[in-house]
Amino acid sequence: MTARIINGIEIANQIREELKAGIIALKSEHNLIPGLVTILVGVDPASQVYVSSKVKACQTMGIYSERYDLPADTGEQELLALIKSLNKNSNIHGILVQVPLPKHINENTVLMAIDPIKDVDGFHPINIGKLMIGEPDYLPCTPYGIQILLIRSHIETEGADVVIIGRSNILGKPMAAILMQKAAGANATVTVCHTKTRDLISHTRRADILIAAAGNKPKFITADMVKEGVVIIDASTHRIGQTSEGKAIICGDVDFDSVKEKAKAITPVPGGVGPMTITMLMSNTIKAAKLINKLV
Ligand code: GUN
Repeated sequence: MTARIINGIEIANQIREELKAGIIALKSEHNLIPGLVTILVGVDPASQVYVSSKVKACQTMGIYSERYDLPADTGEQELLALIKSLNKNSNIHGILVQVPLPKHINENTVLMAIDPIKDVDGFHPINIGKLMIGEPDYLPCTPYGIQILLIRSHIETEGADVVIIGRSNILGKPMAAILMQKAAGANATVTVCHTKTRDLISHTRRADILIAAAGNKPKFITADMVKEGVVIIDASTHRIGQTSEGKAIICGDVDFDSVKEKAKAITPVPGGVGPMTITMLMSNTIKAAKLINKLV
């Protein structure tokens, strides 16, 4: 079997067109323009690329954006003061603090300072809690994007054995919570594997849907680790070199070339999960504008 390639760029573009129509309607019917602020502390090159992509997406979609790129030695109190002022700013509906933050800043303290109604990342304990009880306002963007990729690719999750590799707060944990919901596009039986999992291969080999979000070793999931007909979602990005023109060479956790021969469907890296993350951020920002203005 050679896998169907799940084209994240195409699906993300379809959703962006749908979202644009909603943005135009908000402006014409309510004179409301959704606004997102991004905050980046430090000069991590990968984070800079992600933040630039988020700002660019806002510009192309008609979402107002403000960008704060702060020096690496910014103090926690200074960051908290900025968030406090943005919580009160009525032009801003979504606040995104790019993580990881420098070591001297407590990430949880910062994420908890964001007003939950402006927490378009869905990382605040209130929003994580709402997800756990099945009444989410915002789903974290990457796992949300993966769920939508599965739905729009007509991949059945109900009753499926989903194996997630990675237990991060950004991806693995909320992904499990989303796919185990009693809801359409979910209802899966979920296993979360991590660095202390014994016999990883025994889990990956029985997965109907394998979601790779380990992020520590390029291409480590090989064809012998999966069953025939598996659906593979690769959510990791590794920069493994540069082209002669200086462009980053990127791959995921999955050895795409060997695994695609056994899988039913597979996301490429790049061009799979990445574009969906940013698209769901745009979707959450529009939802925030509506929630804050009591339009939903
Ligand atoms: N770092 C990596 N992914 C994300 C994300 O989705 N949101 C934020 N805030 N930081 C990230």
